[in-house]
Amino acid sequence: MASDLGTLELAHKFVKAHVRAGDVCIDATCGRGRDTALLCELAGPSGKVLAFDIQPAAIDATKALLAARGYENAEVILTSHAQMGEYAEAGSVAAVMFNFGWLPGGDHNIFTLPESSLAALEQALRLLKPGGVVSMCIYYGRNNGYAERDALLAAVARLDPERFTVLRTEFVNRTGEPPIAVFIIKE
Ligand SMILES: C[S@@+](CC[C@H](N)C(=O)[O-])C[C@H]1O[C@@H](n2cnc3c(N)ncnc32)[C@H](O)[C@@H]1O
Repeated sequence: MASDLGTLELAHKFVKAHVRAGDVCIDATCGRGRDTALLCELAGPSGKVLAFDIQPAAIDATKALLAARGYENAEVILTSHAQMGEYAEAGSVAAVMFNFGWLPGGDHNIFTLPESSLAALEQALRLLKPGGVVSMCIYYGRNNGYAERDALLAAVARLDPERFTVLRTEFVNRTGEPPIAVFIIKE
């Protein structure tokens, strides 16, 4: 799906521009591990990546991808991203990646939900260090409806502009319901 590739590519480019070797990073929705692998590469052996998912299948897939690529700097954790604040110090994290929705190739009835997604976003913003970033790929419609999209977009629009820069990108000439990317930079 072209629009899916576009959004992920945008997020990867944004994160690449902000993560350095030695950084602490978080993949809040590790799924099949593609974002975790990117963060492991960018943070390097001196850095650390925390990866969260609520599905054992996603944890297994992410661990398998990291092992295949030889990355040993990640901790892959079977719990909700709403708990991420228990795993890192406030003000210590360079990047948090969110890729909302369901596990690619998995059960389309298990997907991210507004309440836990908002709680996780709040935690992510607290954990970011100055200059740290959040990337969000928001998928909506079909099984997961519109409530999460609407809640997330409303929440980021309310962020204090003195503390956070918030960018929203949309594929305005694509049909259907192309994902929305949101990028946040902490001042
Ligand atoms: C679109 S997929 C992520 C894709 C992944 N970034 C990749 O590269 O394959 C969304 C993932 O979020 C996970 N998820 C759903 N609710 C969650 C929660 N509360 N905490 C953490 N992960 C959650 C799903 O299990 C699913 O694997």
